[in-house]
Amino acid sequence: MKKFPYKHLLGLEGLTREEIEFVLDTAVTFKEVLERPIKKVPTLRGLTIVNLFYEASTRTRISFELAQKRLSADTVNFTPSSSSVKKGETLRDTVRNLEAMKIDMVVVRHASSGVPYFLTQCLESSIINAGDGAHEHPTQGLLDLYTIREKYGKVEGLRVVIVGDIKHSRVARSNIWGLKAMGASVAVCGPSTLLPVEMEKMGVEVYTDLNKALWGADVVNVLRLQLERMERGFLPTLREYSRLFGITKERLALLNKNYTIMHPGPINRGVEITPEVADSPESVILAQVTNGVAVRMAVLYLLSGQQEEAVA
Ligand code: CP
Repeated sequence: MKKFPYKHLLGLEGLTREEIEFVLDTAVTFKEVLERPIKKVPTLRGLTIVNLFYEASTRTRISFELAQKRLSADTVNFTPSSSSVKKGETLRDTVRNLEAMKIDMVVVRHASSGVPYFLTQCLESSIINAGDGAHEHPTQGLLDLYTIREKYGKVEGLRVVIVGDIKHSRVARSNIWGLKAMGASVAVCGPSTLLPVEMEKMGVEVYTDLNKALWGADVVNVLRLQLERMERGFLPTLREYSRLFGITKERLALLNKNYTIMHPGPINRGVEITPEVADSPESVILAQVTNGVAVRMAVLYLLSGQQEEAVA
């Protein structure tokens, strides 16, 4: 593949293995740039990118901003709480005004599923989904795939178990689409109230018994309870959730020998994962964050239309 065939990145659903591998291979080149003393290339010089975060974020927002700066793009961070959104301006009017200032790309996070797609309908710019509701978080899915491939040299044939609040998780959905496309075997596990019915249709194994789910797994991707997206009544108590679904040192004995612990963050220590496991040598949680910058550089570059230009 010579050119990524898309203008936008809205999700991993529908992407082929070849397309995903093209992004991951491009990210390998950018990771090498990030290991240089001067971590900057002129690849996107002259492009202007707006980061439009309508929802809280630490990792994704800073990672995108760093990726843009490392590529020499001009970046602008839009903060709804200090904007004319407070005066009643609609999302459509806001983004059309931003585009009138001659921008090239928009990175958007929003609590409502479908907002990135909506932006493709009202703007000419490339749109990158940085997480929309419980729908998708494609760059998180890609950085997770990158991290797995970096450790094992492959994704195909590995058994990956995603544990936690699957129902409200855009990370789970992007991971499932990406892992399936790359040939992994995927299982999800959580309380039945947090396991949506469409899971089996997505081709994954579904468990409510954590010990059964973990048996023979290579990778465990642990998810936070998305309490901000939950109405009441999904769980009896957090203590009960931790007892039944928390990833503890004792449970690690069920996994394959060369196992890996992942978490997209933010972590709620002592709820879905013990500090001992989160900080263990088998945890790649901070490696995921490091790889996120390289993966986002690759995505920005591939969607920018600058692919004829040299990386360095
Ligand atoms: N993983 C992730 O999306 O983290 P943030 O919400 O901090 O961006």
